[in-house]
Amino acid sequence: MSVEILVLEGDGISDEIMAPTIKVLGAVAGDLDYHYLPFGGKSIDLYDNPLTPHTLGACRRASAVLLAAVGGPKWDSTDPSAPRPEQGLLDLRKELGLFANLRPAKPFPALYDASPIKQERLEGTDLLVVRELTGGIYFGKRGIDPVTGKTIDTCEYSPEEVERIAHVAFKAARTKVTSVDKANVMDTSKLWRRIVTEVQAESYPNMPLEHLLIDNATQRLGFVPSDFDVILADNLFGDILSDEAAMVAGSIGMLPSASLGEAGTPGVFEPVHGSAPDIAGMGVANPLAMFLSGAMMLRHGLGRSDEATAVETAVEQALNDGLRTADLGGSDSTADATKAVLNNIK
Ligand code: IPM
Ligand code: MG
Repeated sequence: MSVEILVLEGDGISDEIMAPTIKVLGAVAGDLDYHYLPFGGKSIDLYDNPLTPHTLGACRRASAVLLAAVGGPKWDSTDPSAPRPEQGLLDLRKELGLFANLRPAKPFPALYDASPIKQERLEGTDLLVVRELTGGIYFGKRGIDPVTGKTIDTCEYSPEEVERIAHVAFKAARTKVTSVDKANVMDTSKLWRRIVTEVQAESYPNMPLEHLLIDNATQRLGFVPSDFDVILADNLFGDILSDEAAMVAGSIGMLPSASLGEAGTPGVFEPVHGSAPDIAGMGVANPLAMFLSGAMMLRHGLGRSDEATAVETAVEQALNDGLRTADLGGSDSTADATKAVLNNIK
């Protein structure tokens, strides 16, 4: 049976990091079939819609979906009725039911010097942000009162939504779950804290659980990153914390992610970084987060851990050999990075 990968063609640096990713994946897995469809800004330009029904249908039928990034100044607008690339991404996550977003941040020792955090504080860091991805303020009621201009975004969570993401976090944890909320202020956070506590007591009594307020968690992630194992957070807090985790990895260009739903639904695999319009077309983007997202696709989307490890090991070896793109303080190009990783795939 063939394995169909749907590649969503996005914006900015997307094409220049996706093409080498397909090469890297091809070096470890020769039997994947790729189909390409426009998404985000590209799709707005063609169809006035960032995610067409045709593209969504193709995503549903695929074994996995690979995506680089969407968005750019061309589609930036403060007009709430203008189509936005990011809306395509949110609709894709919602429509596929991808409620669990896994964002690992483990610094490669070769990149300790690229982090603003002192090496002795980085050592031993190996954390995973488990971000709820289809609820919260991203998907709550929103609107503008046409008379007064008063505008609202609403944060909403049901107990079931909190419960299912809590299970993902506890299953992934090795030493501890740190659940992040703002339970000293927000009612959704009080619900979050109560449900997470119940899930732990009922199903994972031996896995330590701590609760941190988002402001404190943000501070601690910068000062004592190695103190975290799994960080469990809602959609907005998880978005913010996973960007902060770039400090640990040395660059946001190093962070991959997997967005997963119920068993049997195709996952979406994309780097944490955006479309970087400022460097698009220059051939200098760091493709490693995209390569590592491809590895997450192999592991979590296709159940092919050995091939995933082969990609991850090749990335690490290339860094050990001195590979540094501009975001990591070096001058290697996207093509240099690709060659270095391919050379290390046995
Ligand atoms: C991410 C991005 C998206 C998000 C944007 C582009 C809507 O920042 O995947 O982290 O906020 O989820
Ligand atoms: Mg983000």
